[in-house]
Amino acid sequence: MAKLAVTPLLVILVLLRSATRLPVAEMSTAAEEEYMHRLAAATGAERLLGWKADSDPCNGSWVGVTSDPYDGNRIIRIDVRGLLRGGGTLPELDRQAGSLSHLQELDLGDNYLTDNAFSGLPHSFFRGMPELHYFSISDNPRLEEWGLWSDDLLSLTELRVFNASNANINGTLQVFLGNTGAFPALVEVSLAGNRLTGVVPETFASQSIAKLDLRGKGLSGSISFINNLASSITDLRLDHNHFSGPFPADLSGLYLLRVFSVAHNRLTGVVPPSLAWVWRLTRVSVSDNLLQGPVPELPDSVKTDFAEAAVKGSFCRLDVNGPCDKETSSLLSVAAAFHYPEILAVSWRRDDPCDGWLGIHCGDGGGGGGGGRRKAIILTGNNLTGTIPASILQMPSLRVLDVSNNALEGTVLSGRDDVLILADGNRGGLNVTTIAASGSFSSSRLQLSEATTPFLTFAAVFVALFGY
Ligand SMILES: *[C@@H]1O[C@H](CO)[C@@H](O)[C@H](O)[C@H]1NC(C)=O
Ligand SMILES: *[C@@H]1O[C@H](CO)[C@@H](O)[C@H](O)[C@H]1NC(C)=O
Ligand SMILES: *[C@@H]1O[C@H](CO)[C@@H](O)[C@H](O)[C@H]1NC(C)=O
Ligand SMILES: *[C@@H]1O[C@H](CO)[C@@H](O)[C@H](O)[C@H]1NC(C)=O
Ligand SMILES: *[C@@H]1O[C@H](CO)[C@@H](O)[C@H](O)[C@H]1NC(C)=O
Repeated sequence: MAKLAVTPLLVILVLLRSATRLPVAEMSTAAEEEYMHRLAAATGAERLLGWKADSDPCNGSWVGVTSDPYDGNRIIRIDVRGLLRGGGTLPELDRQAGSLSHLQELDLGDNYLTDNAFSGLPHSFFRGMPELHYFSISDNPRLEEWGLWSDDLLSLTELRVFNASNANINGTLQVFLGNTGAFPALVEVSLAGNRLTGVVPETFASQSIAKLDLRGKGLSGSISFINNLASSITDLRLDHNHFSGPFPADLSGLYLLRVFSVAHNRLTGVVPPSLAWVWRLTRVSVSDNLLQGPVPELPDSVKTDFAEAAVKGSFCRLDVNGPCDKETSSLLSVAAAFHYPEILAVSWRRDDPCDGWLGIHCGDGGGGGGGGRRKAIILTGNNLTGTIPASILQMPSLRVLDVSNNALEGTVLSGRDDVLILADGNRGGLNVTTIAASGSFSSSRLQLSEATTPFLTFAAVFVALFGY
């Protein structure tokens, strides 16, 4: 059976090989030939692959070089993956711009090339290759650091695969990925294991990309860009960076997604239950982030690192599945309304808010109504943004909510006279409106007068919690 499966491939290979041996009707252009001889000398291919100085690159004896006999014998593919190990350097390709104008595939991968004139590679390198659709330079870690900053990259309008993992690239993705629509046929991008920094540009969008591998060290910012790839992405790997901000609230729109891997970052928030609706999913990896709340239940067919993530992380339970405690859930809805800030994510771990959570002060008496110990939430002066969710005022054990001196906005409607709300000094203009028992409104921006001193606040909290 295996033989049968291989046969068509063999036929194609034989056809391809004999195609390259067809009688040569037209020599490759002089510029192309000159370029190839330079490449042969500089990379060591002359020695290693028999790219002889006195021969025509298209006469069939150049290992890894394919030309198109039906198109003036122009070179369309150079595949020297792994064939130049121990070879030399890359030549100053920019001087030859335009000479490989029919090249479609260039694979220099896995060669441990070193460099002399390479730090400017993208500058003119890609300008001469308008038809290039497959480029790999992966696994060349000894290259001198280089960047993806040249506009010439944008001339690769046919680009489908760009694999430069482990190729010592530094700098940002601003040029390469920031130009929406530059690569309408892009399918795979791998830049893993480089020294990239900065954010993934918000303008990055693609309706064709299937695989994106940005595993590495230094990327940061939000991962919300993944929504711009929703219609096509199948494999997304973002591990080992400094990505931050909330875990995407809903991934069910990424309906082709198979691999979702964001381990070892600083993502906050809750993994949404809707992850279970991404039915093609086979692998999910989230460990070593600042994720809170319940561990989502996924079908057995999905391989995850949830067990590890639960032990080491901030999820509310160690035994993987099941909801969090009611009060934990209420407080997480507050964190959600504040956009899951990191300051809360590092502290609001596990399932007991009285166990040292930032800003949560617990009294010794029950709050009544089935809640836990009486609680004061004091989050003054934390630069918090967002709103106050109505649900927090339904937490029976709540006695004090002090969110003064932040940047919160919106309106809090309070109908409880057993809860003290302090909300002054919010740059967003947070507005507290008390609904009196009679049903009449009394609206004020400040619940307590601005003359409130820290001592008075302290005393009020103390009384509220301990009932003296
Ligand atoms: C290609 O050219 C070289 C050098 O001229 C020669 O030795 C070799 O036999 C040629 N190969 C083919 C397949 O014609
Ligand atoms: C990338 O590395 C090169 C060579 O070390 C250096 O000159 C350049 O400033 C670096 N670029 C960035 C953006 O770090
Ligand atoms: C890029 O190349 C590496 C090394 O050869 C390989 O493991 C990886 O799968 C490639 N990535 C893509 C997206 O093709
Ligand atoms: C508060 O947040 C704003 C915007 O998020 C930021 O620019 C500012 O530096 C922060 N201030 C402090 C004191 O952290
Ligand atoms: C506060 O909210 C109340 C009720 O929605 C509204 O009538 C009032 O104008 C708001 N005040 C401010 C300062 O936004």
